[in-house]
Amino acid sequence: MQIYIEKDYDALSHRAAEHIAARIREKRPFVLGCATGGTPQGLYRELARMVRSGLLDFNTLSTVNLDEYCGIDENHPQSYRFFMRQHFFLPAGIDFRNSHFPACDARSCAAFEKKITELGGIDLQILGLGKNGHIGFNEPGSLRSSRTRIVTLSLETREDNARFFETKGDVPHSAATMGIATILDAREIVLLASGEHKARAVFQMIRGAVHEAVPASFLQEHPRVLVFLDAAASKEL
Ligand code: F6R
Repeated sequence: MQIYIEKDYDALSHRAAEHIAARIREKRPFVLGCATGGTPQGLYRELARMVRSGLLDFNTLSTVNLDEYCGIDENHPQSYRFFMRQHFFLPAGIDFRNSHFPACDARSCAAFEKKITELGGIDLQILGLGKNGHIGFNEPGSLRSSRTRIVTLSLETREDNARFFETKGDVPHSAATMGIATILDAREIVLLASGEHKARAVFQMIRGAVHEAVPASFLQEHPRVLVFLDAAASKEL
């Protein structure tokens, strides 16, 4: 793993955006794996800014998203489709027709895996990190061999994500997510983590044993992972 420690959130977002933009300029068409949540918002802002300044274009870009909640539709403000439109696709002028999400039935999960293969695989997958070491919605206990499937969210994850909903009870109980094996098939992985509350999970991901108890630890087995941290998230390293 290559670790980059920046002084704060803005600096890590900027650095990661520079890296991803360089990759997208190198290879066309490009398949970008996207994450949602709080952490990548600064990165998406930077990439959209580069597009508006003419430094980057997404004309031959396809996107695949890591996950989507079950039980809320795409117009719900907390659905990940809505998030992506608001934070990335609209500001960066990305054509929605080239964007793909997993959905909450077994047939759609299999179709999503097939779509990734048809696109030629994921060139670069963006990841955030859960406080409990999850990546995508692969909670502790997820298998190294797991593929896109429907999962039950842990209480901790539902509590962490309650900040985006009106009440805790509104947070969905399940989601469709890429599996660990799906993520590890990406040619390159860029993981972002910010804030002291992520420091323990960052330590376990990088220095801990490779084990299902910390799904992010499986990233140690991937040949090309770049981890962008701010100082607070790197505190336990
Ligand atoms: C989001 C996702 C999750 C988040 C993680 C961290 O698509 O798959 O694994 O990356 O829960 O979330 P934030 O960035 O909100 O702390």
